Amino acid sequence: MNTKLAPIGVFDSGYGGLTVMKEIVRAMPAYDYIYLGDNARAPYGTRSFDTVYRYTLECVKWFFQQGCPLVVLACNTASAKALRSIQQNDLPGLAPENRVLGVIRPTTELIGRLSKTGTVGILATTGTVSSNSYPIEIEKFYPALKVYQEACPMWVPLVENNEYSGEGADFFVRKHVQALLGKAPGLDTVLLACTHYPLLSEKISRFLPSEVQLISQGSIVAASLVDYLKRHPEMNQRLTQTGTRYFFTTDDARDFEQHASMFYGAPIQAEKIDL
Ligand code: DGL
Repeated sequence: MNTKLAPIGVFDSGYGGLTVMKEIVRAMPAYDYIYLGDNARAPYGTRSFDTVYRYTLECVKWFFQQGCPLVVLACNTASAKALRSIQQNDLPGLAPENRVLGVIRPTTELIGRLSKTGTVGILATTGTVSSNSYPIEIEKFYPALKVYQEACPMWVPLVENNEYSGEGADFFVRKHVQALLGKAPGLDTVLLACTHYPLLSEKISRFLPSEVQLISQGSIVAASLVDYLKRHPEMNQRLTQTGTRYFFTTDDARDFEQHASMFYGAPIQAEKIDL
């Protein structure tokens, strides 16, 4: 890797963050990017707070060692369980001038404007749902909004194992969509609050009434990052812009390359790292 670069780091427990990176790169193609998927330890969604925090912090430190001044946690579970501690407790001692951003804040800032009925549904991992991050954050911006959550613990394994388009996935998708609909009368907006879920969006839409809109986070996070860099020229100046992309995984690189293209929408070359 070119050590003179100061890329934007994009992180996920596995492949899901590539759905966000795709949109960030589309919005800001000139910048340099490093993606890291912690595939060897995915999924994060069913792990404890301590474990998700420890894994995420290790990955953030790795990004800093690679020269990334800015890291986006393109993972709701890591954003829910590790971001605040890293920002408040670790960053000041590690690299006070660097920044780590998540995906929950940009989404919650916007979501209330998307619903006409004032009722939204959140589909997410067990970890994100149990952290209550979405209801807590949404309340700050839209106190009157009714928020209903549904944890979908089987969805990430279905996607990670390339079973997202098969008939087997129908059962688990229908189960959780119906459970959400059952508890959320008047629902008109459903957020895919896990970066893996856009791959299931066709199936999810099939089980939703046609008047309910399904929202993915990629373009929301990308627009928010564009805005962030406009408001923070000191960070923008530190980031290099040579259009380079590097992809890393903590598991097998060839496996990663095979799966990653369906999330990223283009072929990629990956390297394995040990943390
Ligand atoms: N993609 C991650 C998210 O957005 C979750 C994946 C996992 O469970 O590891 O929450």
